[in-house]
Amino acid sequence: MEMYVEASKKIKKIASEVENSFYTTVLTGAGISAESGIPTFRGRDGLWNKYRPEELATPQAFEKDPKLVWGWYTWRMKLVFSKEPNPGHKALAEMEKMDLVKSIITQNVDDLHERAGSRNVIHLHGELKEVICSNRSCDYKVEAKTILDEIEKRLPTCPECGSLLRPGVVWFGESLPTEELSKAFQEAEKSKVILVIGTSAVVQPAASIPLITKRKGGKIIEINPDTTSLTGFADVSVRGGAGEVLTAILEILKRD
Ligand code: APR
Repeated sequence: MEMYVEASKKIKKIASEVENSFYTTVLTGAGISAESGIPTFRGRDGLWNKYRPEELATPQAFEKDPKLVWGWYTWRMKLVFSKEPNPGHKALAEMEKMDLVKSIITQNVDDLHERAGSRNVIHLHGELKEVICSNRSCDYKVEAKTILDEIEKRLPTCPECGSLLRPGVVWFGESLPTEELSKAFQEAEKSKVILVIGTSAVVQPAASIPLITKRKGGKIIEINPDTTSLTGFADVSVRGGAGEVLTAILEILKRD
């Protein structure tokens, strides 16, 4: 956390921006789940420092070595399913209940926002809890939890068309789900304030979503221990962790 005095001034400012905003949305990234024990992708101990995304998170990788890719995703599924929402997720869910946050646009594939109680969550990159058919013209899908043990024994195939099943997440080089993406754009256009929390803002099109709010005259508020490529566009950017900062903001909002 940056100097306490500086940070607490910014936290007060953020609380008043949220309070006076008729429409606030949120863009979250891996950083908001870091305090739940789920590793981020970039930065100090990021997953992409240890593993190569092109070997694990692309259609070509799955084509080449589905066993390796499924090994990576069953590891991530078991990790995510064993973790709990943290105070950052809970504060956002509380703000939605207070009608101070209208929606959460997330790049995360975990379901911690939902498990914290958030209801209007838009998943831009899919969800780990879903397993889908790799055959694009087949719409078979199943809850990952119901077949997780089976996946460890043999590669899962579609009961309807026989193709391999795959994790229901968006891989590098794949297009984002159109419905979710247009919903996210609409939310950003409507917003007077967009809270950008725990994202390095390097992956498109997610990273450009806050700029839509800005272009429409809205404000960008960033919460991140580090600076990012969005920091320069932010009206307020506080150097701090999501749990601590969002809890402090919620305390002020509850008082007023
Ligand atoms: N609170 C808030 N932010 C944090 C915290 C924390 N406790 N800990 C780390 N961060 C910040 C880091 O400073 C970094 O800016 O979270 C950000 C995480 O960045 P990335 O690991 O790049 O995650 P993200 O931005 O979500 O990645 C976007 O890239 O690999 C793809 O599809 C994947 O959705 C992911 C996308």
